[in-house]
Amino acid sequence: MEKLVKYHSFSQIPKEYILEMKNLVNKSPYRQNYHIEPESGYLNDPNGFSFFNGKYHLFYQWTPLKYQKDPEVWYQGWYHLTSEDLIHWEAQGPGIDPDTPFETHGAYSGSAMQDNDNLLIFYTGNTRTVDWERIPYQIIARMDKEGVIHKNTNSAITGCLEGYTDHFRDPKIWKEKGDYYAVIGAQRIDKTGCTILLKSVDGENWEAKGEVQTNYTSLGYMWECPDYFELDGKGVLVFSPQGISPEGHKYHNIYQTGYLLGESLDLETLQFEHETFRELDRGFDIYATQSASLPDGRQVLIGWMGLPELAYPTEEFGYCGCLTIPRELSIQGNQLIQKPIQEITKLRKNHYMEHCELSEQEMKMKTSFSYELQLQLNLEKDSIVSLGLFSDKEHQRYTEIKIDATEGTIVLDRSKSGKPLAEKFGNQRVIAEQISHEVQLDIFMDRSSIEIFVDGGKYVASSRIFPSDEQNYLWMKNVRKQATAQLDYWELEKNEENNKDNIL
Ligand code: FRU
Repeated sequence: MEKLVKYHSFSQIPKEYILEMKNLVNKSPYRQNYHIEPESGYLNDPNGFSFFNGKYHLFYQWTPLKYQKDPEVWYQGWYHLTSEDLIHWEAQGPGIDPDTPFETHGAYSGSAMQDNDNLLIFYTGNTRTVDWERIPYQIIARMDKEGVIHKNTNSAITGCLEGYTDHFRDPKIWKEKGDYYAVIGAQRIDKTGCTILLKSVDGENWEAKGEVQTNYTSLGYMWECPDYFELDGKGVLVFSPQGISPEGHKYHNIYQTGYLLGESLDLETLQFEHETFRELDRGFDIYATQSASLPDGRQVLIGWMGLPELAYPTEEFGYCGCLTIPRELSIQGNQLIQKPIQEITKLRKNHYMEHCELSEQEMKMKTSFSYELQLQLNLEKDSIVSLGLFSDKEHQRYTEIKIDATEGTIVLDRSKSGKPLAEKFGNQRVIAEQISHEVQLDIFMDRSSIEIFVDGGKYVASSRIFPSDEQNYLWMKNVRKQATAQLDYWELEKNEENNKDNIL
């Protein structure tokens, strides 16, 4: 059962609670160098990702006192960050407090877009009755240019829709031909997941148009955080379905995030012609992604590098969760391509290059805990290249990427990465299939995470790993046959601003 609610606004929380948590956070060996993490407590979904008033805005789901000992201190709202380049984020402190009767049990996920002189925000308020019945409210708010958020005094949609359960949340908003639309996560009464289209002529008064007609009538029991956008003439629906069973190399995480790529969604008939569901990211830790259509035309996506209900080793230090680096989306054939945004190169320093002939004799080098590694591999027919990252000197502990030319696969293995986590869901993921003999990897390492982009973003794998302070080596070898590798290594600058203190 969820905890009792005591604080509805961040300002009600006793300062000593926050300080106590912050002291604990400061003891963590796992704090990241350039990824967004919470100052304390629990971070989950990215929310309200947008461009407004000359800046990028990003919020996230935030439960600052999640690990507080007092069981009555529960609070769940949004935290706010702004940026001029999508890389250096300035902390703005709490964004949305759950302080109205429509959100007594949490200001849940939602989205935002620039609308005239405001940032129009649309999100879900979660409430419970004394009998623990859930009543969701969809709330409209507007942030002005001074950063003040004004919430509407009525709810845009109250309760659930006929034919659907109380799992009704996470509106993602956009504007088209003068009207406002949103997709929202829902559950049919037969306990299957879907998404509903909402419409408004003024951004204030909303009506449910009905269910988006996809080919899936039973893909999991709930679709969280849907996101619809159009790109390169195609319609894309990204969402996080819960309740899909593993199938071959796919769907091994507790919950999934994936997409349907198709024709444009017909906003009148709600028909969506699409190809089969594909996973967005093949790593161990990805969920509840959200994208933004930026003024320069880019569609950029950010994800929660974590999953609900899993225990992470940072919890003993009073916090949990981080976001992925932003990724620019494009479409190639029937696939969504994700590339690290170009601005990330701003963090590069100290370039090192090497051309290696790989044999059983390994190449080895010392690394920092914050770097980008690009590899261009040319494999012989039966090559298997093994790459050890964040390895200790003795090769007892490391995160392994295995590129197998015979199988045509790339496997990520975190069984020896460091502190174990979520082992129940396996320690290996096949992160790419049908690879050719020329493979390109772009890998982003931070103190407790790895993000791998294969072949220019055709496959992506994001994962948390928890190595010790001694694991600062990388090695590479060919288990069979020959291979050559062009290696480019950059240290990535520590991004002090991202996780700077701003909550007191
Ligand atoms: C996804 C989710 C959303 C909900 C939010 C609450 O992780 O469950 O559906 O709005 O988290 O924090």
